[in-house]
Amino acid sequence: MTKVLVLYYSAFGYVAVVANAIAEGARAAGAEVDIKRVPEIASAATAAEGSYFHAVQEVPVAKVEDLGNYDAIIVGSPTRFGRLSAPVAAFLEQASEPLSRGILNGKVGGAFASPTSRNGGHETASMSIITNLLYCGMIVVGPPYSAATIADAVGQRHPSALDLEGARQQGRLIAQTAQRLWGRGESGTAALEPSADPEAAETIEAIIP
Ligand SMILES: Cc1cc2nc3c(=O)[nH]c(=O)nc-3n(C[C@H](O)[C@H](O)[C@H](O)COP(=O)(O)O)c2cc1C
Repeated sequence: MTKVLVLYYSAFGYVAVVANAIAEGARAAGAEVDIKRVPEIASAATAAEGSYFHAVQEVPVAKVEDLGNYDAIIVGSPTRFGRLSAPVAAFLEQASEPLSRGILNGKVGGAFASPTSRNGGHETASMSIITNLLYCGMIVVGPPYSAATIADAVGQRHPSALDLEGARQQGRLIAQTAQRLWGRGESGTAALEPSADPEAAETIEAIIP
């Protein structure tokens, strides 16, 4: 079965709601889906002051070693200054060693983000996630409009039915693409194996002194 990870950070729960809808869509396409959050990097005091949405924190925390187990990874973040949030960036940076070994080469990636206004920069936030996914060797698949929901400061606004349907579509599309590229047989073994390209590694060594 195709294995999909929906990986996110969410302080107030908005990104978490979208993550669940994306997972629903991927499951509807027949994938086995895990939802995990990246570790919190704010201090407990900061999180408490900011009224962080604690239910989110019950979601399992991803480990760097998990990443290679999936055929597709869809990464979500709140929009922070028009880009991805620091906890998502920190997690990806911590994964740089296994990523440089090519564990995600050719795997399917997707991104989503939540802003507080329609022009709050969620598309640039999604693009900033996508830059990371491309760097990891992933093939990025997205609907023309990546999944998003608009947050507010007091938790009164909720994702619209259209937001959630868009998210399900994104999950379905990515799961279907991963199935075509990485379809696992009954043994659970992927048709392809990711591998670092030795020539590319030599080139990188030549570029980075
Ligand atoms: C440090 C910081 C920077 C932010 N920058 C932006 C921004 O550039 N644009 C925007 O629309 N919202 C911005 N926000 C609001 C968050 O995007 C919003 O709280 C988030 O979408 C809520 O998602 P979550 O509930 O999953 O954390 C910012 C929030 C913080 C704490």
